[in-house]
Amino acid sequence: MSTQTWAEPYKIKMVELIKMTSREDRLAAIEKAGYNTFLLRSEDVYIDLLTDSGVSAMSDRQWAGIMMGDEAYAGSRNFYHLRDTVEEYYSYRYTVPCHQGRGAENILSQILISPGDYVPGNMYFTTTRLHQELAGATFVDVIIDEAHDPESEHPFKGNVDFDKLDALVDEVGQDKIPYICIATCVNMAGGQPISLENLRQVRAWCDRHDVMLVHDMTRVAENAHFIQQREDAYKDKTVREIVYEICDLTDAATMSSKKDAMVNIGGFLAMNDAKFYEKACGLVVVYEGLHTYGGMAGRDMEALAIGITESVQDEHIHARVGQVQYLGRKLREAGVPIVNPIGGHAVFLNASKMLAHIPQEHFPAQALSAALYVDSGVRSMERGIVSAGRNKETGENYKPNLELVRLTIPRRVYTQAHMDVTVGAVTDVMEQRSTIKGLRFTYEPEMLRFFQARFEPI
Ligand code: F0G
Repeated sequence: MSTQTWAEPYKIKMVELIKMTSREDRLAAIEKAGYNTFLLRSEDVYIDLLTDSGVSAMSDRQWAGIMMGDEAYAGSRNFYHLRDTVEEYYSYRYTVPCHQGRGAENILSQILISPGDYVPGNMYFTTTRLHQELAGATFVDVIIDEAHDPESEHPFKGNVDFDKLDALVDEVGQDKIPYICIATCVNMAGGQPISLENLRQVRAWCDRHDVMLVHDMTRVAENAHFIQQREDAYKDKTVREIVYEICDLTDAATMSSKKDAMVNIGGFLAMNDAKFYEKACGLVVVYEGLHTYGGMAGRDMEALAIGITESVQDEHIHARVGQVQYLGRKLREAGVPIVNPIGGHAVFLNASKMLAHIPQEHFPAQALSAALYVDSGVRSMERGIVSAGRNKETGENYKPNLELVRLTIPRRVYTQAHMDVTVGAVTDVMEQRSTIKGLRFTYEPEMLRFFQARFEPI
């Protein structure tokens, strides 16, 4: 089969109809939503690129798995299937199901962090950093500088900068660092991978300093695809083999299965250490559910186990990332400033460049995301200063270099024509950009403010 094409290795068996709206409808809807795309009704959206989380299309096999749910309170057959699948594909010996990724982050943070600790990571993720902070830790960004530069073409912008890690040890001492959190295909950097070479060095660093290595494996299959494409030593390995090798280098993992593994809900905390597992079992019953379901129905654990096996198939991930690359290339050809290289799950528009007339304090990415919706019904998400939030000590806004709008592609959902419509919508907005105004808060939630904040035009 030609590798020049990213054509989908599946065909469509069922469709969901979507509503077409007028510009007037959308203007009213965005005002009602306080210029926050999270507060729109999904019915009012034409092409929904808000997120790739929980919105993928399940396969006929996954739906068949739904019918095989064993809804026993304790010891569901589907839990054992999930546990065995995690060990077979991801290497981790113990699995604690959770309702989704942040459930696992909560349990992990409570167990491993003591107040006053520092947790280094290859860029922050919103919920991950919040759970670290709620447990009393300070997050420290140790990703390479190139990751903060939307123009840099570095092939592995998810890599760790060891000077930054060493500087942290010099400053606070290794005893204050319970673990390092490494995300694969770093979301906030633009869906950018870490190389296996760099991860191996992180492993060695952790061994030298007696620090645990925790893996945010939410998009590990996409990362493995980039390793196969860009890291010479791995060009003949399968994505499944690379995924296993990545996981095998780490001690524990949090997983939001709503992404890679193509389920609508679910996640887990996984690890190799029996004592850690025992503690996690003690906490999962407090926050999620019994350790053999952790907030998931039996049927959902079954769909997840099957989704894991589908997510690491080469032809699947080739088409999945291929579609994202297609959208990114078309936008670039149209002269739209985007984050380079194009990511694994999304194309990120460079809002500070597109809306250079709006200062960062007036939320250019938020304004761009709202304008894009009004123009065409395409829903995107702000990933800039609003998402970054405030420093918990000083109350000051974090001011990320990356002021972005994310066009996130659900897996197996939209067609090439939908991607073409999206390109048309973004170029429309580009042409009218001088008419877009900055925003100010009318309501600012204390935590994870981007989800529920409301704005008005300045
Ligand atoms: N880690 C990463 C890298 C994520 O992207 C997410 C979720 C989580 C953890 C938390 O998982 O949502 O299941 O609780 N990201 C979604 C997004 C929400 O749209 O990027 P969760």
